[in-house]
Amino acid sequence: MRSSVRWLATTLLIITGCAENAQEDIRPDLSKFSICSVLSSSLPDSVYFPDDQVYQSQTDSYWATNQGELAAACRVTPRSREDVQKAMWVLSRSSKSSTFAVKSGGHSAVANTSNVESGVVIDLELLNHINVDTEIGIVDIGPGARWADVYRHVDMLPGIYGVAGGRAGSVGVGGYFVGGGLSVFTGTHGWACDNAVAFEIVLGNGSIVQASHRSHQDLFRVIKGGGSNFGIVTRVKTRLIPLERQIDVTQISYDWTQLPTVLEALSRYTAEADTEPETTVSVSIGGLMNGGAMLVTVVLTSLYDTYLSESLRPFFKIRHVFIQRQRRSQLDIARLYDSSEPKGFREHRTTTTVENDAFLLLMMARNFSDTVAPAMAKLKETGSQGGLLLQPLTLSHLRHSKDNMIGLHKAKEPLILISTVIRHSQPETDEKVEDLLLDHMRQANELALRRGSAHAWRYLNYAGIDTDPFEYHKGDDRLWSFVLATKEKYDPSNVFGEQIRDPFRINS
Ligand SMILES: Cc1cc2nc3c(=O)[nH]c(=O)nc-3n(C[C@H](O)[C@H](O)[C@H](O)COP(=O)(O)OP(=O)(O)OC[C@H]3O[C@@H](n4cnc5c(N)ncnc54)[C@H](O)[C@@H]3O)c2cc1C
Ligand SMILES: *[C@@H]1O[C@H](CO)[C@@H](O)[C@H](O)[C@H]1NC(C)=O
Ligand SMILES: *[C@@H]1O[C@H](CO)[C@@H](O)[C@H](O)[C@H]1NC(C)=O
Ligand SMILES: *[C@@H]1O[C@H](CO)[C@@H](O)[C@H](O)[C@H]1NC(C)=O
Repeated sequence: MRSSVRWLATTLLIITGCAENAQEDIRPDLSKFSICSVLSSSLPDSVYFPDDQVYQSQTDSYWATNQGELAAACRVTPRSREDVQKAMWVLSRSSKSSTFAVKSGGHSAVANTSNVESGVVIDLELLNHINVDTEIGIVDIGPGARWADVYRHVDMLPGIYGVAGGRAGSVGVGGYFVGGGLSVFTGTHGWACDNAVAFEIVLGNGSIVQASHRSHQDLFRVIKGGGSNFGIVTRVKTRLIPLERQIDVTQISYDWTQLPTVLEALSRYTAEADTEPETTVSVSIGGLMNGGAMLVTVVLTSLYDTYLSESLRPFFKIRHVFIQRQRRSQLDIARLYDSSEPKGFREHRTTTTVENDAFLLLMMARNFSDTVAPAMAKLKETGSQGGLLLQPLTLSHLRHSKDNMIGLHKAKEPLILISTVIRHSQPETDEKVEDLLLDHMRQANELALRRGSAHAWRYLNYAGIDTDPFEYHKGDDRLWSFVLATKEKYDPSNVFGEQIRDPFRINS
């Protein structure tokens, strides 16, 4: 084995030296060798094994324990795009059973998306550069950066700026962008990915491509919302958003009895918010799954003055138990979100999207409280939490998206995006928790169908194991053939379809 690894190291030097224009036939077939040894020779000092400290700290950095506990055979930690390129040269030449996963911030809770049992993880944590250029109004970011780091850089600029990025500071840049991206700028600037002007992408065969509206437009389109199906993003250039003032964030909590009134207000906001695209609303309904009452909390944001907003006024008028309004920088807001979202749980989530139907939302929330929460309480897991997060996809938001793979730009009516989550701690109850969550969602989707308010679109960044994030796209022949043709063009060997275990892969 040793001598073959040494032989490989030499061969790799040769291929890595001239691969851009090498002929297919002179490349050695790497399938016979242990993939991690090959990667170690190709990328000395960047491949970590289970007994390495770095391997440990990387697995601890996942948001959800059920993602972090998968035991990869080794973890590649590129320091440059060339390192990612070398890793892809090796992986694409190894056998199709050599599996790998790509990880940026590790916030996806669905197992096998950013970690893989017995496979190779490409952990992009060191590709975390942040360069701000106020002259051209662009932030150049490495996928391994966390949003809090981006906001820290932007906060230090003279003048007030924002970036369409994650609300929680711990979310990673890479996964967030390829999934779409909701932010406080959704109404004024659309999905975060629609603000990106260029992506640098390492393809399955190791080629490096710059995708923008000027070059590789097809890839530029599908990477925005297409997930890990087309390549590995090693750099994103996105717009710096000049602001007149810091962002207004108001958190209001209501007791359970106010739920119908709050949902009415949400529904009205969803229908009318177009007149005030500078605002966003999210409603979270949930709490500890101990059989006690759940709480209803609304977060309102405005780029101007919340108190002057017509569309947000109804939320203030409902009798509440807590209210806090702050005018904050994006970094402070991210810290606020981080403090209310602790990591270190096993997380199960799923999502749906429905038309603006307040009654359906009420039924879903009540079912969660009447059936899911008591069933969770019976499992006697102290500290488990759960609930629903409701966010309007307003028309002003949807109209901003054109050149992407999200596909909702033609929507005639606003929608409501629903994310349901349960966090708990015991691995033994994983299956029961998953069943509870998925049963609840299945019933909700059935009810939505019966009421005529169902919608097929699903948000990739909130997807669960029961979600097909591309079901909606498959219903549009033109869009889906474009997606498949683009996949065939940029990943003809189907490296991302066959060697990745991500349940949201396109494996045509
Ligand atoms: C606390 C919390 C707050 C959140 N807040 C928001 C929010 O405000 N708005 C919002 O829209 N979403 C939010 N999300 C959801 C979040 O956008 C997704 O979980 C997203 O996938 C996280 O990106 P990541 O890089 O951290 O994840 P990872 O787990 O590292 O990656 C997620 C997926 O993206 C793929 N991927 C990662 N990096 C790359 C890359 N460089 N190239 C190609 N594919 C890649 C991975 O293979 C994986 O399939 C939140 C999630 C959590 C847990
Ligand atoms: C993850 O992949 C393994 C096989 O590698 C499979 O057994 C498991 O069910 C998958 N988990 C999810 C959530 O898809
Ligand atoms: C709520 O529960 C009832 C009774 O269990 C069921 O008939 C209904 O479909 C459920 N609705 C939703 C939205 O889950
Ligand atoms: C890699 O794949 C791309 C897209 O299919 C192709 O244009 C490029 O020539 C390939 N590069 C090499 C070195 O084979």
